[in-house]
Amino acid sequence: MVGIDKIGFYTPQQYLDLKDLAQARQVDPNKYLIGIGQSKMAVADMDQDIVAMAANAAEEILDAEDRQKIGLLIVATESGVDQSKAAALFVQELLQLHHNLRAVEIKEACYGATAALGWAYDFVSLHPEQKALVIASDIARYGLQTAGEVTQGAGAVALLVSQKPRILSLEKQSVYRSQNANDFWRPNYSQEAFARGKYSEELYLQMFTQVYQQAAELISEKSLAALLFHIPFSKMGRKALQTLTTQLTDNDYQRLEQRFDKSIIYGKNVGNIYTGSLYLSLLSLLENDDTLKPDDRIGLFSYGSGAVAELFFGRLQSGYQTSLNPQKHHDLLAQRKKLTIREYEQIFQQHLVTDGSSQLIPSKRETGHRLFKVENHERFYK
Ligand code: CAA
Repeated sequence: MVGIDKIGFYTPQQYLDLKDLAQARQVDPNKYLIGIGQSKMAVADMDQDIVAMAANAAEEILDAEDRQKIGLLIVATESGVDQSKAAALFVQELLQLHHNLRAVEIKEACYGATAALGWAYDFVSLHPEQKALVIASDIARYGLQTAGEVTQGAGAVALLVSQKPRILSLEKQSVYRSQNANDFWRPNYSQEAFARGKYSEELYLQMFTQVYQQAAELISEKSLAALLFHIPFSKMGRKALQTLTTQLTDNDYQRLEQRFDKSIIYGKNVGNIYTGSLYLSLLSLLENDDTLKPDDRIGLFSYGSGAVAELFFGRLQSGYQTSLNPQKHHDLLAQRKKLTIREYEQIFQQHLVTDGSSQLIPSKRETGHRLFKVENHERFYK
């Protein structure tokens, strides 16, 4: 049995209240709060790039034995810091992992972490005495005053994959699809993503319906206690769930809906973290729902624009609660600083130097990992 043994989470320590964004953009706040279904979005300072966030997310879960047993380290990201070198190599050093491991980066928009999890599953199945660390880390940027602005966010989720997992065992069989589409993309020269917003929503729903139908036999094996979604904004996942109203009994639908509401608590306050969003939904469900039981079966729908979709399944392990840290994560969200619109816009417009000169990166953090300098086109972390 292979699956998720531990889950770590990190998000920058400051946020923008979307009511303030609505006021600044002269939009009815209910469009953001109800129509989009989001409340706050995390804003990353320059010292919290995807490498620093990834290391911070993993640091909270790794003990000495894990560090020794990790044989595969994958950072999944759409917001990579280098066109060539894997972010995982910086992270390996920050986490003080040994050198007898593979460290790589994977990209496919918001699907990357699911591809990484699949690789981790195969790796641990082949090498049961070893563990794999998958870290999803992203900064969602669409640009000031764009339609996507309200769906930005930043954060990282770390998944430790092992034999005899303490949280969620993963089932071998899943259903997936890929098709070339231009619903969302980010050219190498752009710091901001481009999206055909309405088309991206349609494609998400279309691919959900396709994999759900393809998985009919798998789904019928044991009813789902919860169905989780990639959450670019909570209304998107809710729309996907709503496509099932006519296919499920009222009882089944209500159960999935109640648990869906628990799965979006963290994401509504963090925003889109791209490839980590599905796994933040999982963490949010497990840390905010007290009705789940061991062996409950959970479906997970992963979607990455471009586009790849996968529906896979896992079973909750007995005593899974002891491997979670709800208080720490509630505190992490509650203790963040609220930014003014002016502060948010200033942070958004900051850039690292690109001319090879030396730049020290200011930091508001006293602990944890951060980018502290760029020099000669190289990044330096501590
Ligand atoms: N009160 C309540 N609801 C209101 C409202 C009000 N006063 N005013 C508007 N609304 C509702 C609208 O009716 C609409 O609801 P429905 O979607 O149910 O119809 C909702 O608020 C949004 O309104 P608009 O459709 O007018 O919003 P928009 O055109 O300004 O942009 C968006 C919405 C397309 C999602 C845009 O934010 C965007 O482009 N986001 C980035 C792309 C994205 O996240 N796509 C998701 C699928 S792709 C993916 O999942 C991968 C990924 O992570 C990017």
